[in-house]
Amino acid sequence: MVASTSLNVVPDDPTAYKTREYWEERYQNEDSGTTFDWFKTYDELKPLFDNHIRDKNAKILILGCGNSTLGEDMYKDGYRNITNIDYSKTVIDNMKERCGDTPGMTWLEMDIRDLKFEDRSFDIVIDKGTMDAILCNRGDVWEPSEELINEVKQEVDEVVRVLKVGGAFLYITFGQPHFRRRHLERDCWEVKITTMGEAFHYFFYSMVKQQ
Ligand SMILES: C[S@@+](CC[C@H](N)C(=O)[O-])C[C@H]1O[C@@H](n2cnc3c(N)ncnc32)[C@H](O)[C@@H]1O
Repeated sequence: MVASTSLNVVPDDPTAYKTREYWEERYQNEDSGTTFDWFKTYDELKPLFDNHIRDKNAKILILGCGNSTLGEDMYKDGYRNITNIDYSKTVIDNMKERCGDTPGMTWLEMDIRDLKFEDRSFDIVIDKGTMDAILCNRGDVWEPSEELINEVKQEVDEVVRVLKVGGAFLYITFGQPHFRRRHLERDCWEVKITTMGEAFHYFFYSMVKQQ
């Protein structure tokens, strides 16, 4: 994982990023008003988002929101139906407190591998760095274990389930296509990839559900 935050939150063992305990402890140890955006901010992503989200009332789900300002920045830009989920209770409580009672902005403690939403209920699902946390595992990155493949599959299966036909899954990561495409491919969509940055690349994967 690539974090440009203070060193005391970078674990000695990078597989810690895979655990709920790590995130819970990290957020408990931070000031409740701390914000941190992994990889890219909304300003940097907006041109790409604008190609996919044409309606400010689109129903948007942000997976593993953390204390990123993505949801707030989208709200400030006029989006009015944003659901933010994370499995850390602490970060969800902090973000609720930070954003107050903002109509059209919801914060829920939930695991992205087991979404408590109806089928076909969102227009847009966004993952910025969350699948990457799940993928932080020991072992061969070229040949991930069946267990790891299944864990990511649970996330993507849930995304497919809750997306409306015509809706889009937008995934922002440092993970190169060789390592990510296999997890994203499905019969119901085509995986499109945009590369961002110059020296160090980030990738914007977009998948529009066709059926
Ligand atoms: C790398 S951070 C990314 C945070 C934010 N999306 C951003 O762009 O800055 C990963 C976040 O995903 C959350 N997370 C990891 N696995 C999760 C899971 N299975 N279900 C829900 N949240 C998860 C962590 O608690 C953490 O807040």
